[in-house]
Amino acid sequence: MSSTGQDGTSADFIVVANRLPVDLERLPDGSVNWKRSPGGLVSAIEPFLRSRSGAWVGWPGVAGEEVDPFEEEGLWLHPVTLSAREVQEYYEGFSNATLWPLYHDVVAPPVFDRAWWDTYVQVNRRFADACAKIAAEGAVVWVQDYQLQLVPAMLREQRPDLRIGFFLHIPFPPVELFMQLPWRTEIIRGLLGSDLVGFHRPGGAQNFLWLARRLVGLEPSRGAVGVRTRPGVVQVGDRTVRVGAFPISIDAAHLDSLARRKDVQQRAREIRADLGNPRKLMLGVDRLDYTKGIDLRLRALHELLDEGRVHAEDVVMVQLATPSRERVEQYQLMRQDIEREVGRINGEFSRVGHPVVHYLHQSVDRKELVAFMSAADVMVVTPVRDGMNLVCKEYVACRYDLGGALVLSEFAGAAAELTSAFLVNPHDLDGVKNALHAALTVDPAEGRRRMRALRRQVLTHDVDRWARSFLEALGAQPAS
Ligand code: ADP
Ligand code: F6P
Repeated sequence: MSSTGQDGTSADFIVVANRLPVDLERLPDGSVNWKRSPGGLVSAIEPFLRSRSGAWVGWPGVAGEEVDPFEEEGLWLHPVTLSAREVQEYYEGFSNATLWPLYHDVVAPPVFDRAWWDTYVQVNRRFADACAKIAAEGAVVWVQDYQLQLVPAMLREQRPDLRIGFFLHIPFPPVELFMQLPWRTEIIRGLLGSDLVGFHRPGGAQNFLWLARRLVGLEPSRGAVGVRTRPGVVQVGDRTVRVGAFPISIDAAHLDSLARRKDVQQRAREIRADLGNPRKLMLGVDRLDYTKGIDLRLRALHELLDEGRVHAEDVVMVQLATPSRERVEQYQLMRQDIEREVGRINGEFSRVGHPVVHYLHQSVDRKELVAFMSAADVMVVTPVRDGMNLVCKEYVACRYDLGGALVLSEFAGAAAELTSAFLVNPHDLDGVKNALHAALTVDPAEGRRRMRALRRQVLTHDVDRWARSFLEALGAQPAS
């Protein structure tokens, strides 16, 4: 699809995201190390983009670092520098204490701060400028996620020759909630700079079309938006903007083949042995985020143990929680809450040398993650709101043996596709307890039937299909 100049300029396919796929780490001796960035966006887009050459514009993850563009395995990375104040106001502030809670059903109160908004505008302009500088004539630019919603219009202003797509990786909220935002019209106008605006679910696309009418006075199409089909259209001057639903996914074949490896299976057995070979192993894997419902699943487990429906000598739970946005207050509160609940369960139900809950506030590498997923009897995914959630799809991709059971929140975008999971309303604690109990005690034949159906969906709807369907709708279908 792409050719990129020797120095990384003149790229004809560019991804623009808040973060680069790798985060810079300064070691004590002053040297630099690059490690994989956290989150689903990178999990999804990196394998797709690495299989093609292209450029990626993003922040290296550390305040004040000025890094020259560099090439990594055929991918040109263009770092955008953010000062400490910009990290605080654009990233921790407007992106993660205003937009993040607002777009996730206001599960925490969003903060509306005018200085943060000014910095969001300023930083979006920097990303747009960086992109305008390296894009070849007529290039395709794919802007990612809520941190960069003004970039499409800013870029179009400078470079009307470009084909611009935007994809939102988190839910797009109900219009009543979106209308709280003091800068609601500016955001909608920013997104309308795109040729194609993509959401996970048709509902998000529909909400956006309604807002384009209400806030910008446009006349969008009125028909129902389909999944990967029937995008909405809205005329903006002489341009047609398409608005569609494209549920994101994972590199399912890669995870499936990793899970089949002998060393990974051996590691899965070791993990179980290290945990004392429990009859049942439950697993949670999340960024430590208040939207993920980690507290709810722990509360449900606590009550099941209390009521004697689950016994501490039979069940172990592992919760892997990647540190995330640690300077944002709501994240600090959630961490305290989770760690208190882990302490409470272990204090009341563990025996010496046999904790019931193993809580790791750490990120593990992909191979280790696949080993954990292969080892787990029950994968617990209970967000109160999630745009898609890739963890549940990763679990399904790992279970080539048709073992394991998935407990999944109805409020994850993935629930619309993974209907054979044990679906649950995370706000209904009794419902969560019943679903956990049902998954722990499922008849093996029934478990295999469910997992077979889940795998059929995940293996045929992978990230490549997602990217292709988006780029095709953008009119930028890559050559294979
Ligand atoms: P989000 O984008 O909100 O973080 P997703 O579920 O879409 O949520 O994606 C999370 C990604 O991060 C997945 O690829 C998952 O495997 C990975 N991940 C989450 N927690 C961990 C962890 N503790 N260690 C390693 N990978 C993790
Ligand atoms: O998709 C949600 C998302 O916010 C991505 O935009 C982001 O890369 C990922 O989660 C991880 O979050 P952060 O970049 O704030 O660590």
